[in-house]
Amino acid sequence: MSIDKNAGSGKVSTGHKIQRKKMRLSSPNPTTIIIFGGTGDLTRRKLLPALLELKALGMLPECFNIVGFATRPLTDETYREFATTALKEFSSTREKDEDVISALLSNTHFVSSAFDDQSGFNKLSEKLTEIDDTNGIATNKLYYLATPPSFFHTIVSMLAGANLTNKSFIPTKIESSLKSPPTQKIIIEKPFGKDLESAETLNKLLLKEFEEDDIFRIDHYLGKETVQNILFFRFANGIYEPVWNRKYIDHIQITVSENHGVGSRGKYFEEAGILRDMFQNHIIQLIALVGMEPPINMEAESIRSKKIDLLKSLRPITKDMVNTQTVRGQYLKGRDEDDEIKAYKEENNVSPTSKTETFTALKLFIDNWRWSGVPFYIRTGKRLKERLTEIAVFFKEVPHCLFTDFVGGCPNNNKLIIKIQPDERIIFCFNIKVPGAPDRLEEVQMDFSYSETYKTELPDAYERLLYDCMIGDSTLFPHREDIKASWSFVTEILEGWEELEGLEISTYDPLSWGPKEASDLIEKDSRKWRNT
Ligand code: BG6
Repeated sequence: MSIDKNAGSGKVSTGHKIQRKKMRLSSPNPTTIIIFGGTGDLTRRKLLPALLELKALGMLPECFNIVGFATRPLTDETYREFATTALKEFSSTREKDEDVISALLSNTHFVSSAFDDQSGFNKLSEKLTEIDDTNGIATNKLYYLATPPSFFHTIVSMLAGANLTNKSFIPTKIESSLKSPPTQKIIIEKPFGKDLESAETLNKLLLKEFEEDDIFRIDHYLGKETVQNILFFRFANGIYEPVWNRKYIDHIQITVSENHGVGSRGKYFEEAGILRDMFQNHIIQLIALVGMEPPINMEAESIRSKKIDLLKSLRPITKDMVNTQTVRGQYLKGRDEDDEIKAYKEENNVSPTSKTETFTALKLFIDNWRWSGVPFYIRTGKRLKERLTEIAVFFKEVPHCLFTDFVGGCPNNNKLIIKIQPDERIIFCFNIKVPGAPDRLEEVQMDFSYSETYKTELPDAYERLLYDCMIGDSTLFPHREDIKASWSFVTEILEGWEELEGLEISTYDPLSWGPKEASDLIEKDSRKWRNT
């Protein structure tokens, strides 16, 4: 069954191609983006393609400059070639238009320097002045830290040393003559710290050099259309909010599974583990959006304060609870149709005796009026059966079953499934009488699909996030208080796990749904994971 999105409007639904060009009207002010890690994977695969798409949609300012900053010995010219190759490889077909690529890269520059070399940052400062002088415009500066987190502190200190941060900035001649001086903003990639203490230290350093409003901590899940839609879905429809609580909801399951392994990221993953890599940021944000109270409006501050309230209501999983409320797993070796799959311990840069978790399942509670007693079951892992991110809301059973003698027995709980990716849908599962059969009950679905309804690919998360940074909208970025609340919750679990250090970690076969202990976690409550 598919939903007619024009139902009730008198129009015939023929599908509808989104005119993305018309969706945003304002163009940001003149900007120079400085990408630290300008030759890295994230830049090639995500940042440059997102900028190209924004260019194609007319959402970049007329005066837009890119400065790559990395150790490779490139020049402006060879960096442009590097960026062109990356765009041809990683942009979607529509964006590969040569003219758009040349227009995007017409003002592209490169600074070759180590991240801990102050003279490189002085060179950057000269380059930025030169760019502004040539354009005759004082551009806003957007520093993007697309580097491993071990460089974050150094880069911020070096920027300060070259008077380039928001608080150390010394205006040039053009800038001093302006009524509203250009801004200096900073974008930080995850992971934002490795525990509560390190996240707080990083926050302090950033706040010493930048205003909170100029700090953009990226969580790319918040840039995904389907994640943004959670709030629209909850608060633009009158029928869900009255039942979105402990009276009607039995439990919620969140699954974020990936079928690939850690690949070339063994070194990073050994230090991180899946709890830090996926749960502390992306999944916590999903929980906040699903669980938060209605904001008074859609302003960043209003949404943020409700999210923070929710995160502060997460019941801590203390050391004595980690054994009963959490599961850690690690993938073993196996085979898919064609090839051998390496065990986690055999991946490059992974210790053969590693106890790092590549899977975790958690049962958690939110201690507030809305959610009291409603368990949230979370699971996430690498090398699982399929790539899938979904939130499944299981409503309570009917209070009394009239159908015990029917084929199919008592009806299944109603379920609302918000499929975040890769097949973006919202599905409502309900029970009906099978036509012609007097005694058969069956579960069917109302199914809304983004691709079938809008006949277009959804924009990549980085497009929206980069655009929002340029216009200074921080709605989709975690605030330092979000980070603090999420790390407090996660650090407690990590400390509990440390105390279990001597214990073996559970294992699972690749292309499965994780270790048996994850099924036990939910089945001991007489519930079952979906898709198993
Ligand atoms: C990143 C994690 O933040 O998100 C990766 O570091 C993970 O380990 C990735 O693979 C998943 O992102 P997406 O958008 O593909 O779900």
